[in-house]
Amino acid sequence: MARPRVATGIAGLDGILQGGLPQGKSYLLSGEPGTGKTTFSAQFILEGLRQGENGIYISVDEKPSHVVEDAESLGWDLRTPVEQGKLTLLDVSPYFNWVRQGKNNSIDSAEVISDLSKQIRRISAKRLVFDSIVPLVLHRERVHDVQEFIRDLIFSIDDNLGCTTIMTSHIWPGAMGSAEHSVEEFLVSGVIQLRLVKSGEGRYKRAMFVRKMRATPVELREYVFEIQHDHGLVITQPLSE
Ligand SMILES: Nc1ncnc2c1ncn2[C@@H]1O[C@H](COP(=O)(O)OP(=O)(O)OP(=O)(O)O)[C@@H](O)[C@H]1O
Ligand SMILES: [Mg+2]
Repeated sequence: MARPRVATGIAGLDGILQGGLPQGKSYLLSGEPGTGKTTFSAQFILEGLRQGENGIYISVDEKPSHVVEDAESLGWDLRTPVEQGKLTLLDVSPYFNWVRQGKNNSIDSAEVISDLSKQIRRISAKRLVFDSIVPLVLHRERVHDVQEFIRDLIFSIDDNLGCTTIMTSHIWPGAMGSAEHSVEEFLVSGVIQLRLVKSGEGRYKRAMFVRKMRATPVELREYVFEIQHDHGLVITQPLSE
């Protein structure tokens, strides 16, 4: 039987994905700084809340309070679902403190996962966001450790924690399209890329590309999207360059 789909809430994207992301798997959302990864993730969480699905937002790059404020600037209220116990905003700096205090020389994936499972069970969360996974792996010196950590994390999440998960990752400007792909791109069930495209003298537009989506025949083309007050990301048309 086909896996149920989880709507992202992004106008135009759910149609492209034939209903949404296949449920219970992890997805990578990558893009240069400022392309809309946090907005996409917040929108995914809010769509879940609209459908009665609780969510967990793990904010790694920013303080959770900043995520709430950024959402407010778009007209979205994350404060109320937090107060109602439907949304958990997690700050993972304690994990880094352990590392800083020398208790570990890297983040223990078993520790992170066991902690996360408790949080997920506590509110029966169905959607999970890691924004972003980069600092979780950056301080690991050896590539092998990074791969192990990511593999452990993705395998534990997929189908075990009962959550559909988005992990964001930055790409440095100009790196898009290079042959270097990170291990997580191979392990996740889908990869969505965001970028800015020059559209004229001194002007840019935003573009989204579904590079990979298991179990879904997606057309390999980029779409132009906007970030709009209240609506967040909205796909407007295919990109023609
Ligand atoms: N209220 C708004 N209306 C329209 N656009 C907005 C609004 N608020 C933010 N934006 C746009 O969204 C962009 C930021 O998106 P977001 O924070 O989701 O990017 P990001 O990919 O997470 O960035 P980073 O890599 O820095 O984490 C801003 O650069 C801004 O142009
Ligand atoms: Mg962000």
